[in-house]
Amino acid sequence: MSMIELSVNRRAVRIAAEPRTNLADFVRDKLDLTGTHLGCEHGVCGACTVLLDGVPARSCITYAVACEGAEVTTIEGLDEDDVTSELRSAFTREHALQCGYCTPGMLVSARDLVLRLPQADERLIRVGLSGNLCRCTGYVGIVRAVHSVIEARRARDIAAEPGGGRKTLGPVGSGRNGHDAAGRVERIRVATSETASPEAAGLAASIPDFTPATVLQQQFSVAYSPQQVFAMFDDIAAVAACLPGASLTAPPKPERVEGEIRVRIGPIGATFSGAARVERSEADMSGRIVGIGNDRRSRSSTQGEIRYRLVPIGQGTRVDLSIGYTLTGMLAQVGRPGLVRDLAARLIAEFAGNLDRRLSGASAPATAAAELNGMALIFGLLRARVARWFGRFSSDKDGAP
Ligand code: FES
Ligand code: FES
Repeated sequence: MSMIELSVNRRAVRIAAEPRTNLADFVRDKLDLTGTHLGCEHGVCGACTVLLDGVPARSCITYAVACEGAEVTTIEGLDEDDVTSELRSAFTREHALQCGYCTPGMLVSARDLVLRLPQADERLIRVGLSGNLCRCTGYVGIVRAVHSVIEARRARDIAAEPGGGRKTLGPVGSGRNGHDAAGRVERIRVATSETASPEAAGLAASIPDFTPATVLQQQFSVAYSPQQVFAMFDDIAAVAACLPGASLTAPPKPERVEGEIRVRIGPIGATFSGAARVERSEADMSGRIVGIGNDRRSRSSTQGEIRYRLVPIGQGTRVDLSIGYTLTGMLAQVGRPGLVRDLAARLIAEFAGNLDRRLSGASAPATAAAELNGMALIFGLLRARVARWFGRFSSDKDGAP
């Protein structure tokens, strides 16, 4: 696993990825930018075209790790772009799409063409777009749409943009990747899972900040004052005991904790071993826990961040949580966002119940050592939904004329 820092659609991104992850999977799976389509996955069809430092590039044959420091623009990043807006209108007007699968890549390539070649005629447009295949074969409308935009810009005396705004070509088309301003090769900063892993190097390296791929907002209330809850949150061992499936693997320090969490979703079980950095602010009763972990068996990794803020409500406390995470590997394949969101809601409900019991002085919660069982939680969710549905059904009947 490598940590990659780059800019995607003008947003700084720092996410771990397998060295073999291509840029298309990276933007789709980790950033939910699904406008980048995958067709052939061999660099032939152009469906996956994105801009890499302003240069159209095939993201299916571009390794994400090779884009360290680059500026990536996907079709979503061109929402406000003038040329792309003109092209979108022209595609609609000229019926230049049928199924639309090739359209994002086609628009990215067409934009480059429009910027670079204000004199392009039909032949040049066909040559320029020859790297983008349309399986619906709607080339006549596509060429007509691109031509109409070029003509309209020429009529408005808009000059060509030298190189279409592109920068010097470097590895994988990026003007900066691996090169400094003088073109010298810089060392690409890569943190491998071995250096980031808690098992290796004794977790000597600090736990990095990251931009989560998914952020969930949750809240729950307990009948204890913010001061009591804040003090309890300082007792990491007690907090871990309230979290289903979690346990500590080393004595916790005030600002650092090492442990593991066991999860099972369907047939896949995983034990994430890792460490977390703990930050607290008594001034506003808030805190932050940033952690990393990996499971060797399922070859899944996760980075997570929990931010909490304690808000007084009457005699009790509302705990506002923001949970951000990035999950990669086998579990990410089955851990669809909706499912994970539901699981997180159930997990937090169990955590809140355990916390409440703990604060009331009750003994260690029964669920503490249990595995976080996704299927059990799913059945719990289904039960709750069915109960809600029958409740609504019977109240509808009661209220029926
Ligand atoms: S999916 Fe990348 S070129 Fe076809
Ligand atoms: S419109 Fe269907 S692939 Fe081009």
